[in-house]
Amino acid sequence: MIWRPFTQEKTATPAIKIIRGEGVYLFSETGQKYIDMISSWWVNIHGHGNREIAEAIYSQAKTLEHVIFTKFSHDPAETLVKNLKKLLPSNLSKFFFSDNGSTSVEVALKMAYQYFRNIGTGKRSLFLCLKGGYHGDTFGAMSVAGKSSQYHGIFSELFFNSHPIGVPEYYEDVEDIEEQEIRILEEWEQKLLEIGDRVCAIIVEPLLQGAAGMKLYRPKFLEKLVHVVRSYGILVIFDEVMTGFYRTGKMFAMDHTNVIPDFICLSKGITGGFLPLGMTVTTEKVYDAFLSDDPRKTFIHGHSYTANPISCAAANKSLEILLRQKTVENIRTIEEFHKRAVLKNIHRRRVLGTMSAFDIDSSEQRDYLVESAFKEGIFLRPLGNTVYFLPPYCIAEEELDKVYTIVNKFL
Ligand SMILES: Cc1ncc(COP(=O)(O)O)c(C=O)c1O
Repeated sequence: MIWRPFTQEKTATPAIKIIRGEGVYLFSETGQKYIDMISSWWVNIHGHGNREIAEAIYSQAKTLEHVIFTKFSHDPAETLVKNLKKLLPSNLSKFFFSDNGSTSVEVALKMAYQYFRNIGTGKRSLFLCLKGGYHGDTFGAMSVAGKSSQYHGIFSELFFNSHPIGVPEYYEDVEDIEEQEIRILEEWEQKLLEIGDRVCAIIVEPLLQGAAGMKLYRPKFLEKLVHVVRSYGILVIFDEVMTGFYRTGKMFAMDHTNVIPDFICLSKGITGGFLPLGMTVTTEKVYDAFLSDDPRKTFIHGHSYTANPISCAAANKSLEILLRQKTVENIRTIEEFHKRAVLKNIHRRRVLGTMSAFDIDSSEQRDYLVESAFKEGIFLRPLGNTVYFLPPYCIAEEELDKVYTIVNKFL
């Protein structure tokens, strides 16, 4: 009766019923326990069943569960904005709420497009993006993954125009990275000469392309790319839906660089994995372009659950936990563990913050590894032949050790 996401129901095995979660563990109704090594689709940053977040949610639900966010505002949303503002560069100062990662991206795309119409530069209607990028499953988000997207190709004739350009992949033992970066930047420059003045925005997953297969590229490349697109007056969108909230070892992936985008999209870890919430943050310059006596310049976009107070309360508590010294130390420990752990028979090893990924030779080997590890209580969900670890930040060294030992056994 239930139709699952990203699942071919004809061949998939029946879902395993999970009855409880605690820390890094998921407990099934048949008494099995699994380490959630992908933080349940990258959202669950503090582990399952976190008491403090659960209590913040309960307390907020008793006080105000929801209210339309137009004429009304509320403390949880205002506090969240204040909290996030402290963590972001000062020019990212205007916060627009939505309710998931895809919508946070849709909002940025629509704002960028309308910005140029509002300021009277209407001919900019194209988007640039990175090859292999993933920004969600709604139509705008799919369009900026490009027509040859491995996930959404079937819908491609419905997409609006976007131009995906290459990314120089960075991993352990990569050869000629500098040359690759120069060559790819030349491709970008060529494309910009052709279409630069018709582009309204570029959208990128900064430094780490998640769904593409946990692919990394270097901060220097991103800095140069931003510099060159900006010389054409193009707005820059960083989709930090996956990379935000210390996933890459810093609060935001952009903190590894010296550039500040015009938009940042946030979701996933924002509530600690408890409740849906999306956020698009932009600049005063963009915001000001929507201030007008002409109603057509208004940003006509909203969701019923915009800035849900319970989600905001969860996010405030999650941020409080995230900023504790113990959490930050754990994040460092995970990264160091990933870096020093030995893995056999793998390729293209890469580590950034709490993310560790590697490729294996064939889909048969991958299935064998993933199924065998699952039988021993490790939940992995590969992307093609890429296997990755993206644990909740509360994972202990003994648990990491167990994961690496078991994975090595089957590698
Ligand atoms: C970088 C990035 N952007 C956007 C999304 C879409 O988020 P959601 O699944 O909450 O719509 C994802 C989801 O994996 C993502 O990784």
